[in-house]
Amino acid sequence: MNAIDTIRQRAPDLQPRIAVVLGSGWGTLTDHLTNATQIPYPELAGFPQAGVAGHSGSLWLGHLGAQPVAVLSGRQHGYETGVIDSMAVPLRVLQDLGCHTLVQTNAAGSLNPDMPPQSLMLLSDHINLPQRSPLVGRSGSERFVNMVDAYDPTLRAHARRVAQTHGVTLFEGVYAWAFGPQFETPAEIRMLRLLGADAVGMSTVPETILARHLGLRVLALSFITNLGAGMSTEHLSHAHTLQQAQLGSVAASRLLADIVTKMDLPS
Ligand code: HPA
Repeated sequence: MNAIDTIRQRAPDLQPRIAVVLGSGWGTLTDHLTNATQIPYPELAGFPQAGVAGHSGSLWLGHLGAQPVAVLSGRQHGYETGVIDSMAVPLRVLQDLGCHTLVQTNAAGSLNPDMPPQSLMLLSDHINLPQRSPLVGRSGSERFVNMVDAYDPTLRAHARRVAQTHGVTLFEGVYAWAFGPQFETPAEIRMLRLLGADAVGMSTVPETILARHLGLRVLALSFITNLGAGMSTEHLSHAHTLQQAQLGSVAASRLLADIVTKMDLPS
């Protein structure tokens, strides 16, 4: 059975309008869902097998407030298999189900000493450092996607307003995609700072490109788990990322739930 039929069968009354991708530190968003249906990725044809500790790999369908949503808990990263278009099928399926907006979340390292661990950063733009595209092999003129304002300015203004009502400082900046899985060298971090990046992480950019190709509006938020390599004495590891992400996860998810709940839908 194809994934759309499976989803319609398991959650027949829900037409999601907003898709949310949960990265490290954002998993507790699913606690805010009401009338939730959880479908593990292995039951959905064409969905990836999310494999990294901290990424469970399920599609959730339910409501955040009155907003019908689809939540992708777990993504496959380029560094797991070398494949960077593994979210192509899930995003296409969610668009076919009715989603026109993609909200992405991730964990990232900060390149700005004034944006410490536990900060939240709205992506204003990104740098595709590996210069790889999930659209390689596609045909048609739509593959030449315009990436100006890839992170929707109206949605960003909305997120800033909601953060203000929560009394949460929301930084805004440029996210650099590093392929990973190794962390950066201190020299690479110095280079990224010179290039104008504010944060660095190993995800999000391929999905933003895929989503813009589909015409979805995109909003993305980073949870800052550490300062970039060489900027502090802390020893970077995946365990450290997950532990830091865990610490702030409840407040971050509460804000995210409210941002999605209060989002206007395009007609
Ligand atoms: N670098 C790359 N990815 C990351 C980092 C980092 O410092 N922290 C969390 N994800």
